[in-house]
Amino acid sequence: MGKKDDRIDVIVPYPKVTLSAKTHVFNDNSIITNQVNMLRDVRTSDEEFRGLVRNITKLLAAEAFANLPLEEVNITTPICRTLGGRVKRESIALVPILRAGLGMEEGLCELMPCALHGKCGISRNEETLEPTMYMWEMPDDIEKKEIFVLDPMLATGGSAGYAIGRLRAIGCKKKITLMSIVGAPRGVDFIQLHHPDVEIYLAHLDEGLNRYGYIVPGLGDAGDRMFGPK
Ligand code: PRP
Ligand code: URA
Repeated sequence: MGKKDDRIDVIVPYPKVTLSAKTHVFNDNSIITNQVNMLRDVRTSDEEFRGLVRNITKLLAAEAFANLPLEEVNITTPICRTLGGRVKRESIALVPILRAGLGMEEGLCELMPCALHGKCGISRNEETLEPTMYMWEMPDDIEKKEIFVLDPMLATGGSAGYAIGRLRAIGCKKKITLMSIVGAPRGVDFIQLHHPDVEIYLAHLDEGLNRYGYIVPGLGDAGDRMFGPK
């Protein structure tokens, strides 16, 4: 009998996942890939890491927000008056999953200052990998908003799936989009199966999960790399 392999880069086998038409991955996008691979590097400092998370989130948002409904507004430029489109104030809500989702929220605050904000605190049990919610704060009328759930890591999909399930359970019927930076096939599969109406924007789909539930090659523990160990 061979010794159990304890290497952290060994991937637990998982069936091949077929991406649905609602799942968008950007492994072939050079600018996103460049930023994601800097993020992965173990030598990247906390400060650089947070900057890269903001940048990648904005690049993903260019895709995920591309079809937001616009309202017509009057604009006066230094040259003339004109009519143009703007995202309607408070028509969307950003829901970061704490802690790591806060870094993505920061990037979107700069891009979309007129959004509403919720907070969903979820911690993944390190042994069972099951999510436990410890905080839930949503803006009034969340159920009437288009929602963007933010979590840089989509590993088993348990945390994001829990947040989306709860939003649906409290009556959020409008479109929900999940924005993540690094994901594993198992996490994508989980969301596609349990929340087939959710649109997924994922910067990079990685190879898989190791036996500790970490994404391989991944980037380690996103929350710790942003905010220090818990
Ligand atoms: C991490 C990460 C995601 C979750 C992903 O959170 O930020 O929320 O794990 O894993 P899953 O897809 O298997 O649920 P963690 O529980 O480590 O909390 P933290 O962000 O506070 O560090
Ligand atoms: N959460 C993380 O922060 N990283 C992983 O690889 C998996 C879950």
